[in-house]
Amino acid sequence: MILGICGSPRKKATEYVLREALRMVEEADHKTEFFSILGKNISPCTHCDYCLKNEECKIKDDMFELYPLIKDARGLIIATPIYMGGISAQTKIIMDRCRALLAADRKAFKYKVGMAIAVGGDRVGGQELAIQQIMTFYILNEMIPVSGGSFGANLGATFWSRDTLDGVKKDEEGFRSLRKTLKRFVNLVEREQKLKGESKHEHVPDLSGDKNDG
Ligand SMILES: Cc1cc2nc3c(=O)[nH]c(=O)nc-3n(C[C@H](O)[C@H](O)[C@H](O)COP(=O)(O)O)c2cc1C
Repeated sequence: MILGICGSPRKKATEYVLREALRMVEEADHKTEFFSILGKNISPCTHCDYCLKNEECKIKDDMFELYPLIKDARGLIIATPIYMGGISAQTKIIMDRCRALLAADRKAFKYKVGMAIAVGGDRVGGQELAIQQIMTFYILNEMIPVSGGSFGANLGATFWSRDTLDGVKKDEEGFRSLRKTLKRFVNLVEREQKLKGESKHEHVPDLSGDKNDG
């Protein structure tokens, strides 16, 4: 299953693009789930460290709807609107709250494939930085981050909404970056799927000296 997470508090451009992306993923024969922060009650991480001892988050809110979806997903598509040149606070809160999943299982995100969608009101309003923020989350948590590939060099799917739903629908260049990234994303999900089971990963010796690593 491929999970799309929408970090916009509106049913507008970001949600539209993410739903289009999931529709394309389904066309490639993969099941999808959609989760939006719209109307959800999700509070920021308070660094209370409860999760380190109890292997679950202390804040009992709508993140508990998202946790099982993330666990089940082979691939994540995080879509964010651009707020002040970067990801929305809502998107960041979701990423931070994932610490509880990692506290319960260090490998919770390992080898999941990840791509990102960023939707800004301006053509160059911080989309690439936002995607880098999401990629950093993927890399830190041992996921496989996916770009649109070397030529054209899209880091992910970047959209110009002109602040409207109609604007994003007309952004041909944005959809081109989406199709390129999705093609590589689906390929990698399928590759990972094949590798699962015949994987030699677990036999790689631990060179870190860190008992908690691996
Ligand atoms: C607080 C705030 C800050 C914003 N900052 C930026 C920005 O730095 N760069 C940009 O391109 N657009 C910015 N925008 C515009 C939104 O990214 C744009 O309208 C986008 O389409 C919103 O996504 P949505 O349609 O899914 O709500 C900002 C919007 C808000 C509310």
